[in-house]
Amino acid sequence: MPRTLLVTGGAGFIGSNFVHYATEHTDARIIVLDKLTYAGNRASLAGLPEDRVTLVEGDIADADLVGRLVADLTGPDDAIVHYAAESHNDNSLSDPSPFLTTNLIGTYTLIEAARRHDVRFHHISTDEVYGDLELDDPQRFTESTPYNPSSPYSSTKAGSDLLVRAWVRSFGLRATISNCSNNYGPRQHVEKFIPRQITNLIDGIRPRLYGAGQNVRDWIHADDHSSAVLAILDRGRIGETYLIGADGEKSNKEVVGLILEAFGRPADDFDHVTDRPGHDLRYAIDSTKLRTELGWTPSFSDFEAGIADTIAWYRDNEDWWRPQKAETEAKYARSGQ
Ligand code: NAD
Ligand code: DAU
Repeated sequence: MPRTLLVTGGAGFIGSNFVHYATEHTDARIIVLDKLTYAGNRASLAGLPEDRVTLVEGDIADADLVGRLVADLTGPDDAIVHYAAESHNDNSLSDPSPFLTTNLIGTYTLIEAARRHDVRFHHISTDEVYGDLELDDPQRFTESTPYNPSSPYSSTKAGSDLLVRAWVRSFGLRATISNCSNNYGPRQHVEKFIPRQITNLIDGIRPRLYGAGQNVRDWIHADDHSSAVLAILDRGRIGETYLIGADGEKSNKEVVGLILEAFGRPADDFDHVTDRPGHDLRYAIDSTKLRTELGWTPSFSDFEAGIADTIAWYRDNEDWWRPQKAETEAKYARSGQ
């Protein structure tokens, strides 16, 4: 019998890309549990087979609802794949409160249900739990790098990872954790760096770089994140953490330069704006464990081509992002960004 996956946050950016990817590459049946916050979008699940994908609108911190959904996961390969989170650093700096509720209490609610019903659990986390690196640091993040989060967002993600680890050790929860680097691709909210600059340029607005633009992120296509999560679900060792990354380090200035080039604009046609408080300088992932132990490799090796596809997606799907654009920019304008 095909497995059932309960995918939390499946109407958000990475969760919806996972649902599309898993529907195409496996025969799994998928229940999406999503609160449809400002970051969730029903339209991100459009076109998926209705007999295989069901959206349940609800909160991961709702213990009754979560208990009912998890109780239905009775197949031997059924699992919870937990993407739901408040995910944006800038929002966490203006109002940390929903980050604590969703990222900590929400994760606690899910792992309690998973242990009660003995259901396999995969926790989606971020490289930001490790803090940041110097630009010239020869060491990248590995599974043994000490936790050192900087923002309300990353500290609540770090806390959620620690909860999962404790539930594995104390209660025998059958869980794995993955910490991935910055994702790009279709269906990402226009508050985030790459879609913000693409949609600004579509609207004839100059891109906005925080500070000097020297901060480095390690970019991976969302589909490669999805293939890694499927590999961990199928072959990952219980209790283990796997770092996911595709050797995609680029400074923000370089990324803006590539986007400007794709729009036929000069590489310096951007504005410097107020920097993010506590802005992490550099993230970089060493994904050797995932590659050697589980045989995973990324498919997207050409960042420029991936960015060109992403630009094409935003040009072709204006109905998807337009409703959020003005409000998002108004919020950035209030913080001088
Ligand atoms: P997103 O903000 O685009 O999507 C989050 C989704 O979770 C939305 O659909 C939202 O409606 C839903 N949600 C929020 N609160 C909820 C709640 N209380 N109950 C149910 N649903 C709720 O985020 P994203 O960028 O897709 O990130 C998804 C996950 O991946 C997060 O856990 C994030 O920490 C992690 N992650 C993101 C990146 C990245 O580059 N974006 C990289 C590594 C890890
Ligand atoms: O590393 C993984 C993390 O990547 C995830 O855990 C987060 O959920 C995800 O949002 C992302 O966090 P970042 O803070 O790195 O992503 P963001 O898109 O907000 O910003 C990327 C970089 O670009 C960062 O250095 C800040 C900068 N930036 C961002 C915006 C929105 C700008 O220079 N200008 C902008 O307009």
